[in-house]
Amino acid sequence: MEERKALRGTRDLFAPEIALWQKIEAIAQDHLTRARFTEVRTPLLEATELFARGIGEATDIVGKEMYSFVDRGDRPVTLRPEGTAGVARAAIEHKWCQPGTVQKLWYRGPMFRYERPQAGRQRQFHQLGIEVLGSDDPRADAEAIALAYELLQALGLSDLVVDLNSVGTPADRQSYRQALVDYFERHREVLDEEARDRLERNPLRLLDSKDPQLADLVAGAPNLLEYLGNESKAHFQQVQDYLSALGVAYRLNPRLVRGLDYYTRTAFEIQSQALGAQSAVCGGGRYDNLIGELGGPPTPAVGWAMGLERLVLLLGEPPAPPLLHGYIVARGALAAPFSLKVAQTLRGAGLTVDLDLTQAKLDKQLKRAAASGALAAIVLGDDEAQREAVQLKWLQTGDRQEVSLSASIALLQKAASSLHR
Ligand code: HAM
Repeated sequence: MEERKALRGTRDLFAPEIALWQKIEAIAQDHLTRARFTEVRTPLLEATELFARGIGEATDIVGKEMYSFVDRGDRPVTLRPEGTAGVARAAIEHKWCQPGTVQKLWYRGPMFRYERPQAGRQRQFHQLGIEVLGSDDPRADAEAIALAYELLQALGLSDLVVDLNSVGTPADRQSYRQALVDYFERHREVLDEEARDRLERNPLRLLDSKDPQLADLVAGAPNLLEYLGNESKAHFQQVQDYLSALGVAYRLNPRLVRGLDYYTRTAFEIQSQALGAQSAVCGGGRYDNLIGELGGPPTPAVGWAMGLERLVLLLGEPPAPPLLHGYIVARGALAAPFSLKVAQTLRGAGLTVDLDLTQAKLDKQLKRAAASGALAAIVLGDDEAQREAVQLKWLQTGDRQEVSLSASIALLQKAASSLHR
């Protein structure tokens, strides 16, 4: 029989690492809620056509990375490879894009891309992202980028670099694309098969090539920023001015082209050198035409998403588990129901309490209590059950005392607060 294992590129998340995920999510939720973002949860499964149209047929994601299948009703469906298209679909469906209004949304959850797994790259991975719908004010771009940057700082990350570019409007890109094709055509003999394929399907992606043989060629390629129209230029300049005013350090990178076709004007990534090859912790930008192209009202928008696996790699150490007040050990016919009641009562009073469910001998249970890190073992036999009393064995000192169940609450609380001082 085959070994039972999670599929390649997918993995189980559990303690102690899961505490790091929960911490990231809690800090992000607080950070974004205070900026008045509300959470949206869209389905994992959407019509294939949404991604094909939204992300672009010529992208690697749509061309070779999607988990697509035909469902039992003969509908082509796809496990979402990213969050923006689904949010755009939801915005159209629920008519969130009314003229003159701005929606600020955030989301988190699993995404699916059939990529070659490696450190920081999974087939099922998790993103946390925001989408700001309805504003083309360059303040929206700057605020979005600053929110990502500050969130990463709040999580304790330093050593971050914001790579910034403007990919202009489709009209700006049209003339640039031609200049780029002419340039690479002149050097066709240097291009391998994959590069030639990109040249035909998506020439801008050649700028993103990781092939060291192409590095010199790419370095000499025409500069996208020189092809921007005046409006794109002015918008980009304002984004930069606002970022500087906010103290967000960025680096202009005219070779930054994103792997999704919906971007217009601002594009950015936040890199961490500590990550190695998969260095982008966050990527995003403006996408002013996506909602219109998907059939909604023309709605300028900007957003980003962070890869949670990469954040977890960077943060490393999970936080310490919360203080455990008591670990209940019990033996005896009367002690059994009493142990349940004690756990319920103490938890009801706000304490953190574990209950040993093994029915092992008391000394074995006490060993586990000592290993649990609890302040006290709460020892229950039939005698204690009859008297509604508990034995507290303080695990630091080994001291024991018998008290009523209600008195034990105050004692455990007091012991915890003296620890905190
Ligand atoms: P993206 O650059 O494709 O953008 O993904 C954003 C982030 O997700 C990446 O920077 C990376 O941290 C993480 N990521 C992507 N693929 C993987 C993978 N296979 N394994 C682990 N992490 C990964 C988007 O998805 C856009 N929807 C972002 C956006 C939102 N643009 C506007 N609004």
